[in-house]
Amino acid sequence: MDMIEAIKARKSIRGFKPEPVARETISQILAVAVRSPSSLNTQPWEFHVVTGEALNKIRQADLEAFEAGVPPAEGVPGQRPLTGIYRRRQVEQAAQIYELLGIPWEDRARRREWDKGTFRFHNAPTAIVIAADKSLGESATMFNSGLITQTIALAALDFGLGTCIHDIMYADIFRRFTGVPESKRIVICLAIGYPDWTHPANKLESKREPFQNITTWYGF
Ligand SMILES: Cc1cc2nc3c(=O)[nH]c(=O)nc-3n(C[C@H](O)[C@H](O)[C@H](O)COP(=O)(O)O)c2cc1C
Repeated sequence: MDMIEAIKARKSIRGFKPEPVARETISQILAVAVRSPSSLNTQPWEFHVVTGEALNKIRQADLEAFEAGVPPAEGVPGQRPLTGIYRRRQVEQAAQIYELLGIPWEDRARRREWDKGTFRFHNAPTAIVIAADKSLGESATMFNSGLITQTIALAALDFGLGTCIHDIMYADIFRRFTGVPESKRIVICLAIGYPDWTHPANKLESKREPFQNITTWYGF
């Protein structure tokens, strides 16, 4: 796939076919993604790839915690209320998704039901979770992890796969089911699978601020 085409084609997929993704396919994606740059070539990323019953158990435990009112892990960005333009973008996008799903804004129960999506990895057949050793600085880890996350998302397209980058809502639950130790920071997750293009949420065309509005030129 042409690079520019791939960057434009990538979008968050929130409805997947149940078809499993072969371990070999994930291996090929990760084999290329590790070419991502990292500060001082530290390559902080470690991958935890979960599928089948192993993932279903995490989904189940996450949903139970959600229903019990357990707050998501400290540091999950959604936990910090947004303000100003950032809040407006968040609300505008949420409204777009609910409209595509046919959920009226006033219907809190159905909105809440949809919002559980991230807690169940959007029902993707597989999740790739990126972790990094806590001995590394947090900001470098986050930055480097961001690079490899986008690279994985782009590489996945070449295999007909879609992704949704999202936080691990309950890191402790993920640790419990996988054995990832406390010495590792659980950074981010990519739900990955074959997109169900009939799912209304996959019709979302998320908006962007035109680059002209956010670019300052010097010396031209
Ligand atoms: C760090 C990060 C966290 C995200 N967390 C979530 C999430 O919790 N749930 C979700 O559905 N999407 C999540 N997303 C996806 C964003 O909502 C999405 O990238 C953004 O709205 C732009 O849409 P697009 O990916 O379709 O271009 C996250 C993306 C990033 C980069």
